[in-house]
Parts: sequence; structure tokens; C-alpha cells
Amino acid sequence: MLIFKPCVFRCGSNYKIAVTSDNYSLAAVKAGDDIYTDNSCGIIRSACKTHIIEVPGEILDREKKYTVIEREIIKRKAYCTETKPEKEYSFDFRPVPENPRCYHIADSHNDTGRAVAAAKVYGKIDFLILNGDIIENSDTEENFYVIYKIASEITGGEIPVIVTRGNHDLRGKLAELLANYIPLMNGNPYYSGRLGSIWFLCLDCGEDKVDSHEEYGLTADFHAFRRKETEYIKEIINNKENEYDAPGIKHKIIISHIPFTFDYPAPFNIEKEIYSEWASLIKENIKPGFMLCGHNHKAGIYSPGCAEDGMGQPCPLIVGTTKQNDYFMGAGIEFNGSGCEITFTDNEGKICGREIINY
Ligand SMILES: [Fe+2]
Repeated sequence: MLIFKPCVFRCGSNYKIAVTSDNYSLAAVKAGDDIYTDNSCGIIRSACKTHIIEVPGEILDREKKYTVIEREIIKRKAYCTETKPEKEYSFDFRPVPENPRCYHIADSHNDTGRAVAAAKVYGKIDFLILNGDIIENSDTEENFYVIYKIASEITGGEIPVIVTRGNHDLRGKLAELLANYIPLMNGNPYYSGRLGSIWFLCLDCGEDKVDSHEEYGLTADFHAFRRKETEYIKEIINNKENEYDAPGIKHKIIISHIPFTFDYPAPFNIEKEIYSEWASLIKENIKPGFMLCGHNHKAGIYSPGCAEDGMGQPCPLIVGTTKQNDYFMGAGIEFNGSGCEITFTDNEGKICGREIINY
């Protein structure tokens, strides 16, 4: 039995649909005439309760509905594996329209209820952004499920979700398995994608202190990871005709849990060279409308050259979440012909502020 509504991640031009069962099972998605399975080089997986099934974007956008097919395993054997009868779960799907509305959540740190409550205040949305530190850490599989629980309650499996990793997601005894629960592009958690007229680039800073910091106990190797990511940003720029310069793109946004252009005090003042290069590549080439971040637990909108700008901020930067003990505030974003309108809402039912960004 599925324990959440599916989470329809957008990654590149496809959807990666995450479904979680209460037991070990086979899983597939039917969209149009085709059935897509979660398989490893042709072997349909069953040694896991969460499956991520890739469906071509144009198929789901055209069909506007899909069916999850789940079949619980009784015994997987070398010959004649035994399964229970299949169960089907059908969902409607809404592709992102012109001038969409979305909601941004970061730093919920396992607090599902307050994040969902804040999102509900903003009302109907067309896609959801979960921008890191949604979970407190990666110590248990149940923590991974927090991502799906929030997505399930807000999207019902009917609209796309964009997800990034935050630094807390990278800590805990199961952290190396996080990659089995989120969409990857070519094995990496940084990726671009398109939703209607919006082009987005999710960047991943990894941890927020140097790899040798005692907190990590020799488990971090993010410096090399970030250097590889620099090359990925250059590949995006070299392929701009199919990325941010593609026909029909009206909005270009950068999504990163950590606002990497901020001038943080020690021990968070890391990677000045790499982050300055990212900022410069983005500013000179991509020219995005805005950058969307979390991490600071204090929402705000920052202009290039602001007091916090230590790396050459390429565009307006929105920290789209406030999180304090029993308080949560997130950001609704409505795109229009000349930019977007940001509306901050909180778990107490309040609209906390509105800002316009034109670009
Ligand atoms: Fe963070």
C-alpha cells in the first residue's frame, strides 16, 4: 500500500515520480499507453520501499493523469518470484501553466505541520519547491519520508516538485543513501529543468564548513564535488540554446539551499574562489531573474552589492523561509509577464509581506 501520494519531481525535461510502499514491492507508472518501471539495468527493483520512476515530460504533460502500479513481494527468488496481486492508484496531473504560482519551503527540519500550514495560507499553487534541510538529518529512513509527506499534503501527487539538498540532509548514518530518495541527473543532485516558461538551475553547495571540520568526522568530500559542479555550470552555459536561451523561456531562476554569495563569518566562510566563480559565471551568462535560497532561517530579499554580498551576487536573492522553534514562514511566488510577486505566509495564518521583483 502506498503510504503517501506520489511526489512528482521535475528534473531536466522529465518527471521522476517517487512512491513509497509500506512493504517491499515492485512499482511502475502507467502514463498513456506505456508503463515505466523502477529498474536497475533491466532488473525491476524490490529490495526497497521507495521507488523513483522516470516518465517523459511530454507524455505526462499530454495525458494529465497517471496510474501507479504496486505489487508487493511475497518472496523474491532466483526462479518464480512470488508476489501479491497488483494494486493501482490513479492521479490527475496539472502541467505548469503560464504565469504560475509556486510555494517555497526550506529548513522545515522535520516540522511537517507548520510548513504545510504556511503553504496552505498562500492557497492554490502550480508547483512546489523544497529547498533543503526539509529533514533534520539522514539518520533514519523515516526522515527521508518527511520530504514525501510534505509534498503529499501540499501537492496530492498532482503538480510538480523541485527538490534540492540542504547541509543537514548530508549528515547521519544513512546520508549516503539520500541519493535513492531524490532525483539525480547523471548521478548528481545539481541539475537544470524547465516548467512551462520557467527555466531553473538547482545548485548544491554540500556542507557549510570545510571538509576537515571535526563535526564531519572524516565523512565529507565536498570540495572536489563543488569543483565538478563548476564544470557542470560551464556545460550548461555551453548548451544555452537548449537550456536558459531555449525558445519560450521567460523566467530564469537559480535555486540553492545555501545563499553561497553571502559573506559568512568563520567557520562558514568557505570556498570564496569557487563560489565567486559560480556567481561570475551566472552573472555574465545566465542573467537570472532571481536566486532562491534558505539556510539562514530568516527570510529576506537582498540586492546585488548588499552588505551580505561577498562573492558578487548575480541577481536579487530571496531567502524564502523563516524558521524558529515553533514558527515557520515560507514564500509564495507568482510569476507574471515582467517578473514575479513574492508573498510571505506563516503557520499562524498570516500574510507577512509582499515584494515585487521585476526583471
Ligand atoms: Fe541549512
